Amino acid sequence: MDPQGMRVVVVGVGRFGALHARVWAEAGARVVGLCDVDETRLREAAEQFSVESVGTELSPLLDRLRPDAVLVVSDEDSHAEICVVALEAGCHVFVEKPLALSSADAWRVHTEAANAGRHVVAGQISRFAAPYARMQNSLRSGRIGQLCALRLRRDFSREWFLSFGDRVHPVWESCIHDIDLAVSFVQRPVVRVFAMQSEAALEAAPSVVTALLEFDNGVTATVESAWLVPGSAPQTLAGALELSGAIVGEAEVLGLEGMLRQRLVSDGLVEWTNSGTFVPDLSLWPEEDTSIGGALRREVDYAIAVFAGRRQPDRVPLKEVCWGVEAAEAVVTSLRRRAPVELSSGGGVDEIRS
Ligand SMILES: NC(=O)c1ccc[n+]([C@@H]2O[C@H](COP(=O)([O-])OP(=O)(O)OC[C@H]3O[C@@H](n4cnc5c(N)ncnc54)[C@H](O)[C@@H]3O)[C@@H](O)[C@H]2O)c1
Repeated sequence: MDPQGMRVVVVGVGRFGALHARVWAEAGARVVGLCDVDETRLREAAEQFSVESVGTELSPLLDRLRPDAVLVVSDEDSHAEICVVALEAGCHVFVEKPLALSSADAWRVHTEAANAGRHVVAGQISRFAAPYARMQNSLRSGRIGQLCALRLRRDFSREWFLSFGDRVHPVWESCIHDIDLAVSFVQRPVVRVFAMQSEAALEAAPSVVTALLEFDNGVTATVESAWLVPGSAPQTLAGALELSGAIVGEAEVLGLEGMLRQRLVSDGLVEWTNSGTFVPDLSLWPEEDTSIGGALRREVDYAIAVFAGRRQPDRVPLKEVCWGVEAAEAVVTSLRRRAPVELSSGGGVDEIRS
Protein backbone atom coordinates (compact mmCIF):
# COMPACT_ATOMS: atom_id res chain seq x y z
CA MET A 1 0.00 0.00 0.00
CA ASP A 2 1.35 3.42 -0.92
CA PRO A 3 1.45 5.48 2.29
CA GLN A 4 0.82 8.62 0.25
CA GLY A 5 -2.47 7.17 -0.91
CA MET A 6 -3.59 5.81 2.47
CA ARG A 7 -7.24 6.76 2.95
CA VAL A 8 -8.39 7.26 6.53
CA VAL A 9 -11.63 8.05 8.36
CA VAL A 10 -11.43 9.93 11.68
CA VAL A 11 -13.99 9.00 14.35
CA GLY A 12 -14.35 11.72 17.00
CA VAL A 13 -13.34 15.18 15.84
CA GLY A 14 -12.97 16.93 19.20
CA ARG A 15 -9.73 18.44 20.46
CA PHE A 16 -7.46 15.49 19.78
CA GLY A 17 -9.33 14.17 16.73
CA ALA A 18 -8.78 17.50 14.99
CA LEU A 19 -5.08 17.34 15.86
CA HIS A 20 -4.87 13.79 14.48
CA ALA A 21 -6.64 14.80 11.25
CA ARG A 22 -4.01 17.49 10.75
CA VAL A 23 -1.01 15.26 11.59
CA TRP A 24 -2.18 12.30 9.45
CA ALA A 25 -2.64 14.67 6.51
CA GLU A 26 0.80 16.18 7.11
CA ALA A 27 2.22 12.63 7.17
CA GLY A 28 0.81 11.96 3.68
CA ALA A 29 -2.49 10.19 4.41
CA ARG A 30 -5.78 11.36 2.87
CA VAL A 31 -8.55 12.09 5.36
CA VAL A 32 -11.54 10.97 3.30
CA GLY A 33 -14.25 10.87 5.96
CA LEU A 34 -15.21 12.14 9.40
CA CYS A 35 -17.59 10.67 11.95
CA ASP A 36 -18.84 12.26 15.16
CA VAL A 37 -22.05 11.99 17.15
CA ASP A 38 -22.00 15.77 17.59
CA GLU A 39 -23.32 17.29 14.35
CA THR A 40 -22.02 20.78 15.09
CA ARG A 41 -18.47 19.53 15.62
CA LEU A 42 -18.80 17.40 12.50
CA ARG A 43 -19.78 20.41 10.37
CA GLU A 44 -16.96 22.54 11.77
CA ALA A 45 -14.35 19.81 11.21
CA ALA A 46 -15.65 19.08 7.69
CA GLU A 47 -15.11 22.73 6.81
CA GLN A 48 -11.74 22.95 8.54
CA PHE A 49 -10.33 19.89 6.76
CA SER A 50 -12.31 20.23 3.50
CA VAL A 51 -13.79 16.74 3.88
CA GLU A 52 -17.09 16.06 2.08
CA SER A 53 -18.00 12.62 3.42
CA VAL A 54 -19.20 12.90 6.99
CA GLY A 55 -21.69 11.04 9.15
CA THR A 56 -22.90 10.41 12.68
CA GLU A 57 -22.99 6.63 12.00
CA LEU A 58 -19.72 4.83 11.26
CA SER A 59 -20.85 1.68 9.43
CA PRO A 60 -22.61 3.42 6.47
CA LEU A 61 -19.61 5.73 6.10
CA LEU A 62 -17.24 2.75 5.94
CA ASP A 63 -19.50 0.93 3.44
CA ARG A 64 -19.46 3.97 1.23
CA LEU A 65 -15.80 4.99 1.50
CA ARG A 66 -13.97 1.67 2.03
CA PRO A 67 -10.99 3.39 3.73
CA ASP A 68 -7.69 1.68 4.52
CA ALA A 69 -7.74 2.76 8.16
CA VAL A 70 -9.99 4.17 10.86
CA LEU A 71 -8.64 6.55 13.52
CA VAL A 72 -10.57 6.22 16.79
CA VAL A 73 -10.29 9.50 18.71
CA SER A 74 -13.73 9.52 20.34
CA ASP A 75 -14.66 9.35 24.03
CA GLU A 76 -12.92 6.56 25.93
CA ASP A 77 -16.00 4.39 26.51
CA SER A 78 -16.64 4.07 22.76
CA HIS A 79 -13.18 2.86 21.67
CA ALA A 80 -13.48 -0.94 21.80
CA GLU A 81 -16.82 -1.06 19.99
CA ILE A 82 -15.65 1.25 17.22
CA CYS A 83 -12.44 -0.81 16.82
CA VAL A 84 -14.54 -3.93 16.27
CA VAL A 85 -16.80 -2.21 13.71
CA ALA A 86 -13.74 -0.93 11.82
CA LEU A 87 -11.99 -4.33 11.87
CA GLU A 88 -15.14 -6.07 10.66
CA ALA A 89 -15.18 -3.60 7.77
CA GLY A 90 -11.65 -4.74 6.87
CA CYS A 91 -9.85 -1.59 8.06
CA HIS A 92 -6.64 -1.16 10.01
CA VAL A 93 -7.21 0.78 13.23
CA PHE A 94 -5.39 3.50 15.10
CA VAL A 95 -7.05 3.92 18.50
CA GLU A 96 -6.26 6.59 21.06
CA LYS A 97 -5.61 5.55 24.63
CA PRO A 98 -7.16 3.73 26.34
CA LEU A 99 -7.66 0.85 23.90
CA ALA A 100 -10.62 -0.27 26.04
CA LEU A 101 -12.07 0.16 29.50
CA SER A 102 -11.94 -3.54 30.40
CA SER A 103 -9.52 -6.37 29.78
CA ALA A 104 -12.34 -8.41 28.21
CA ASP A 105 -12.91 -5.70 25.60
CA ALA A 106 -9.18 -5.23 25.00
CA TRP A 107 -8.63 -8.94 24.29
CA ARG A 108 -11.77 -8.96 22.14
CA VAL A 109 -10.19 -6.29 19.93
CA HIS A 110 -6.97 -8.37 19.90
CA THR A 111 -8.90 -11.44 18.72
CA GLU A 112 -10.91 -9.48 16.11
CA ALA A 113 -7.69 -7.99 14.70
CA ALA A 114 -6.14 -11.45 14.37
CA ASN A 115 -9.32 -12.82 12.73
CA ALA A 116 -9.51 -9.88 10.31
CA GLY A 117 -5.79 -9.95 9.55
CA ARG A 118 -5.60 -6.21 10.26
CA HIS A 119 -3.36 -4.13 12.53
CA VAL A 120 -4.48 -2.19 15.59
CA VAL A 121 -2.03 0.50 16.76
CA ALA A 122 -2.90 2.01 20.12
CA GLY A 123 -1.99 5.66 20.66
CA GLN A 124 0.34 5.16 23.61
CA ILE A 125 2.15 8.34 22.69
CA SER A 126 4.70 8.24 25.49
CA ARG A 127 6.44 5.32 23.79
CA PHE A 128 7.31 7.76 20.98
CA ALA A 129 8.48 10.66 23.19
CA ALA A 130 12.25 11.00 22.74
CA PRO A 131 13.21 10.79 26.46
CA TYR A 132 11.24 7.57 27.06
CA ALA A 133 12.49 6.08 23.80
CA ARG A 134 16.05 6.82 24.91
CA MET A 135 15.36 5.20 28.31
CA GLN A 136 14.01 2.13 26.51
CA ASN A 137 17.18 1.96 24.35
CA SER A 138 19.44 2.35 27.38
CA LEU A 139 17.61 -0.44 29.16
CA ARG A 140 17.70 -2.78 26.13
CA SER A 141 21.39 -2.13 25.49
CA GLY A 142 22.27 -3.31 29.00
CA ARG A 143 23.64 0.07 30.18
CA ILE A 144 21.93 -0.24 33.58
CA GLY A 145 22.01 -4.02 33.92
CA GLN A 146 19.04 -6.12 34.95
CA LEU A 147 15.80 -4.20 35.48
CA CYS A 148 14.60 -4.18 39.12
CA ALA A 149 12.00 -1.49 39.59
CA LEU A 150 10.23 1.48 38.04
CA ARG A 151 8.85 4.69 39.54
CA LEU A 152 6.46 6.65 37.36
CA ARG A 153 4.54 9.78 38.24
CA ARG A 154 2.25 12.11 36.29
CA ASP A 155 0.27 15.00 37.78
CA PHE A 156 -2.35 16.99 35.90
CA SER A 157 -4.08 20.31 36.51
CA ARG A 158 -6.99 20.31 38.90
CA GLU A 159 -9.14 22.19 36.38
CA TRP A 160 -8.61 19.43 33.80
CA PHE A 161 -10.17 16.98 36.22
CA LEU A 162 -13.19 19.21 36.51
CA SER A 163 -13.51 19.61 32.71
CA PHE A 164 -12.74 16.09 31.38
CA GLY A 165 -10.78 14.04 33.95
CA ASP A 166 -13.79 12.28 35.38
CA ARG A 167 -15.70 11.28 32.23
CA VAL A 168 -14.16 7.88 32.92
CA HIS A 169 -12.24 6.81 36.01
CA PRO A 170 -9.18 9.10 36.02
CA VAL A 171 -6.89 6.03 36.04
CA TRP A 172 -7.87 5.58 32.35
CA GLU A 173 -6.91 9.19 31.61
CA SER A 174 -3.61 9.63 33.44
CA CYS A 175 -2.20 6.39 34.96
CA ILE A 176 -2.79 4.44 31.74
CA HIS A 177 0.16 6.31 30.16
CA ASP A 178 2.55 5.20 32.91
CA ILE A 179 1.11 1.70 33.25
CA ASP A 180 1.70 1.20 29.52
CA LEU A 181 5.22 2.63 29.83
CA ALA A 182 5.91 0.21 32.68
CA VAL A 183 4.68 -2.70 30.54
CA SER A 184 6.81 -1.47 27.64
CA PHE A 185 9.93 -1.47 29.85
CA VAL A 186 9.24 -4.88 31.42
CA GLN A 187 7.55 -6.54 28.39
CA ARG A 188 5.69 -8.89 30.75
CA PRO A 189 2.20 -8.95 32.27
CA VAL A 190 1.34 -7.62 35.73
CA VAL A 191 0.26 -10.26 38.26
CA ARG A 192 -0.48 -8.22 41.40
CA VAL A 193 -1.73 -4.71 42.10
CA PHE A 194 -2.39 -2.76 45.26
CA ALA A 195 -3.72 0.77 44.77
CA MET A 196 -4.83 3.45 47.19
CA GLN A 197 -6.39 6.84 46.82
CA SER A 198 -6.06 9.74 49.18
CA GLU A 199 -9.08 9.78 51.45
CA ALA A 200 -8.06 13.29 52.50
CA ALA A 201 -8.46 14.52 48.92
CA LEU A 202 -11.39 12.31 48.00
CA GLU A 203 -14.24 14.75 48.46
CA ALA A 204 -12.68 17.53 46.39
CA ALA A 205 -10.65 15.46 43.95
CA PRO A 206 -11.11 11.68 43.87
CA SER A 207 -8.02 11.35 41.79
CA VAL A 208 -4.94 11.18 44.01
CA VAL A 209 -3.81 7.64 43.32
CA THR A 210 -0.78 5.55 44.26
CA ALA A 211 -0.53 2.06 42.75
CA LEU A 212 2.02 -0.66 43.29
CA LEU A 213 2.35 -3.17 40.45
CA GLU A 214 4.20 -6.48 40.46
CA PHE A 215 5.12 -8.11 37.15
CA ASP A 216 5.33 -11.86 36.63
CA ASN A 217 9.14 -11.67 36.55
CA GLY A 218 9.34 -9.96 39.96
CA VAL A 219 9.92 -6.39 38.71
CA THR A 220 7.90 -3.81 40.66
CA ALA A 221 6.54 -0.44 39.59
CA THR A 222 4.94 2.46 41.42
CA VAL A 223 2.50 4.51 39.37
CA GLU A 224 1.27 7.73 40.90
CA SER A 225 -1.06 10.40 39.68
CA ALA A 226 -2.69 13.47 41.23
CA TRP A 227 -4.93 15.92 39.39
CA LEU A 228 -4.06 18.64 41.87
CA VAL A 229 -1.61 20.90 40.04
CA PRO A 230 -2.80 24.42 40.92
CA GLY A 231 -3.72 27.14 38.44
CA SER A 232 -0.58 29.08 39.31
CA ALA A 233 1.65 26.42 37.68
CA PRO A 234 3.09 27.39 34.28
CA GLN A 235 1.12 26.25 31.22
CA THR A 236 2.79 23.29 29.47
CA LEU A 237 0.49 22.70 26.49
CA ALA A 238 0.90 25.60 24.11
CA GLY A 239 0.84 25.72 20.34
CA ALA A 240 -1.06 23.08 18.34
CA LEU A 241 -3.16 22.00 21.34
CA GLU A 242 -3.63 24.95 23.69
CA LEU A 243 -4.79 23.84 27.11
CA SER A 244 -4.48 26.10 30.10
CA GLY A 245 -2.83 23.95 32.76
CA ALA A 246 0.12 21.68 33.32
CA ILE A 247 1.41 18.11 33.12
CA VAL A 248 4.21 17.39 35.57
CA GLY A 249 5.75 13.97 35.30
CA GLU A 250 8.82 12.02 36.30
CA ALA A 251 10.10 8.56 35.51
CA GLU A 252 12.85 6.45 37.03
CA VAL A 253 14.13 3.09 35.83
CA LEU A 254 16.25 1.24 38.38
CA GLY A 255 18.68 -1.44 37.24
CA LEU A 256 21.24 -3.52 39.10
CA GLU A 257 24.04 -1.50 37.49
CA GLY A 258 22.55 1.95 37.04
CA MET A 259 19.45 4.07 36.92
CA LEU A 260 17.67 6.32 34.44
CA ARG A 261 15.74 9.39 35.48
CA GLN A 262 13.82 11.99 33.53
CA ARG A 263 11.20 14.70 33.80
CA LEU A 264 8.34 14.55 31.31
CA VAL A 265 8.20 18.29 30.78
CA SER A 266 11.59 19.93 30.79
CA ASP A 267 12.03 23.54 31.81
CA GLY A 268 14.63 24.02 29.08
CA LEU A 269 12.39 26.66 27.49
CA VAL A 270 10.50 29.17 29.64
CA GLU A 271 8.34 31.98 28.27
CA TRP A 272 7.34 34.89 30.53
CA THR A 273 4.52 36.86 28.90
CA ASN A 274 1.85 39.35 29.93
CA SER A 275 -0.70 36.50 29.87
CA GLY A 276 1.32 34.17 32.08
CA THR A 277 4.32 31.88 32.30
CA PHE A 278 4.67 29.07 29.74
CA VAL A 279 6.96 26.05 29.86
CA PRO A 280 5.89 24.60 26.51
CA ASP A 281 6.31 20.88 26.11
CA LEU A 282 8.59 20.22 23.16
CA SER A 283 8.41 16.44 23.07
CA LEU A 284 4.74 15.49 22.51
CA TRP A 285 3.32 17.58 19.62
CA PRO A 286 5.50 20.68 19.08
CA GLU A 287 4.87 22.90 16.07
CA GLU A 288 7.99 22.73 13.93
CA ASP A 289 8.04 25.17 11.01
CA THR A 290 4.64 24.58 9.36
CA SER A 291 3.86 21.10 10.69
CA ILE A 292 3.53 19.20 13.96
CA GLY A 293 6.49 17.09 15.00
CA GLY A 294 7.53 15.24 18.12
CA ALA A 295 6.06 12.07 19.53
CA LEU A 296 2.68 12.49 17.82
CA ARG A 297 4.19 12.69 14.33
CA ARG A 298 6.52 9.73 15.02
CA GLU A 299 3.53 7.72 16.28
CA VAL A 300 1.54 8.52 13.13
CA ASP A 301 4.49 7.73 10.83
CA TYR A 302 4.87 4.42 12.67
CA ALA A 303 1.17 3.54 12.29
CA ILE A 304 1.23 4.40 8.58
CA ALA A 305 4.34 2.23 8.08
CA VAL A 306 2.71 -0.69 9.95
CA PHE A 307 -0.55 -0.38 7.97
CA ALA A 308 1.40 -0.14 4.70
CA GLY A 309 3.31 -3.33 5.58
CA ARG A 310 6.60 -1.47 5.64
CA ARG A 311 7.53 -2.36 9.22
CA GLN A 312 6.76 -4.80 12.01
CA PRO A 313 4.23 -3.71 14.67
CA ASP A 314 6.91 -4.00 17.32
CA ARG A 315 6.89 -0.56 18.97
CA VAL A 316 3.38 -0.90 20.38
CA PRO A 317 2.61 -4.64 20.36
CA LEU A 318 -1.13 -5.08 20.86
CA LYS A 319 -0.50 -7.84 23.39
CA GLU A 320 1.44 -5.40 25.61
CA VAL A 321 -1.34 -2.81 25.29
CA CYS A 322 -3.83 -5.45 26.47
CA TRP A 323 -1.57 -6.22 29.45
CA GLY A 324 -1.66 -2.50 30.25
CA VAL A 325 -5.47 -2.44 30.13
CA GLU A 326 -5.53 -5.51 32.42
CA ALA A 327 -3.30 -3.71 34.92
CA ALA A 328 -5.31 -0.46 34.77
CA GLU A 329 -8.50 -2.41 35.32
CA ALA A 330 -6.88 -4.07 38.33
CA VAL A 331 -5.89 -0.64 39.70
CA VAL A 332 -9.50 0.55 39.46
CA THR A 333 -10.71 -2.72 41.06
CA SER A 334 -8.16 -2.43 43.88
CA LEU A 335 -9.22 1.16 44.57
CA ARG A 336 -12.85 0.09 44.73
CA ARG A 337 -12.22 -2.95 46.94
CA ARG A 338 -9.52 -1.25 49.04
CA ALA A 339 -7.57 -4.47 48.74
CA PRO A 340 -4.79 -6.06 46.68
CA VAL A 341 -5.86 -7.69 43.41
CA GLU A 342 -4.24 -10.67 41.71
CA LEU A 343 -4.39 -11.11 37.95
CA SER A 344 -4.00 -14.34 36.11
CA SER A 345 -0.79 -14.10 34.16
CA GLY A 346 0.07 -14.97 30.61
CA GLY A 347 -1.96 -12.65 28.45
CA GLY A 348 -5.18 -13.72 26.85
CA VAL A 349 -6.62 -14.58 30.23
CA ASP A 350 -8.66 -11.71 31.52
CA GLU A 351 -9.98 -12.96 34.78
CA ILE A 352 -9.18 -10.89 37.86
CA ARG A 353 -8.96 -12.76 41.14
CA SER A 354 -9.49 -10.85 44.34
N1 LIG B 1 -2.42 10.60 23.81
C1 LIG B 1 -2.68 11.73 24.43
O1 LIG B 1 -1.81 12.37 25.00
C2 LIG B 1 -4.09 12.25 24.40
C3 LIG B 1 -4.35 13.61 24.59
C4 LIG B 1 -5.68 14.05 24.52
C5 LIG B 1 -6.71 13.14 24.29
N2 LIG B 1 -6.40 11.81 24.13
C6 LIG B 1 -7.47 10.82 23.91
O2 LIG B 1 -8.17 11.17 22.72
C7 LIG B 1 -9.54 10.80 22.85
C8 LIG B 1 -10.42 12.02 22.58
O3 LIG B 1 -10.13 13.01 23.55
P1 LIG B 1 -10.50 14.54 23.29
O4 LIG B 1 -9.75 15.30 24.32
O5 LIG B 1 -10.31 14.89 21.86
O6 LIG B 1 -12.05 14.54 23.63
P2 LIG B 1 -13.18 15.50 23.05
O7 LIG B 1 -14.31 15.42 23.99
O8 LIG B 1 -12.61 16.85 22.74
O9 LIG B 1 -13.60 14.82 21.67
C9 LIG B 1 -14.23 13.57 21.60
C10 LIG B 1 -15.18 13.59 20.39
O10 LIG B 1 -15.67 12.27 20.17
C11 LIG B 1 -17.07 12.37 19.86
N3 LIG B 1 -17.68 11.06 20.15
C12 LIG B 1 -18.02 10.53 21.35
N4 LIG B 1 -18.55 9.30 21.20
C13 LIG B 1 -18.55 9.05 19.87
C14 LIG B 1 -18.97 7.95 19.09
N5 LIG B 1 -19.49 6.83 19.65
N6 LIG B 1 -18.84 8.02 17.75
C15 LIG B 1 -18.34 9.14 17.17
N7 LIG B 1 -17.93 10.21 17.86
C16 LIG B 1 -18.01 10.17 19.20
C17 LIG B 1 -17.56 13.53 20.72
O11 LIG B 1 -18.77 14.06 20.21
C18 LIG B 1 -16.39 14.50 20.60
O12 LIG B 1 -16.53 15.37 19.49
C19 LIG B 1 -9.70 10.23 24.26
O13 LIG B 1 -9.57 8.83 24.22
C20 LIG B 1 -8.51 10.81 25.01
O14 LIG B 1 -8.10 10.01 26.11
C21 LIG B 1 -5.12 11.36 24.15
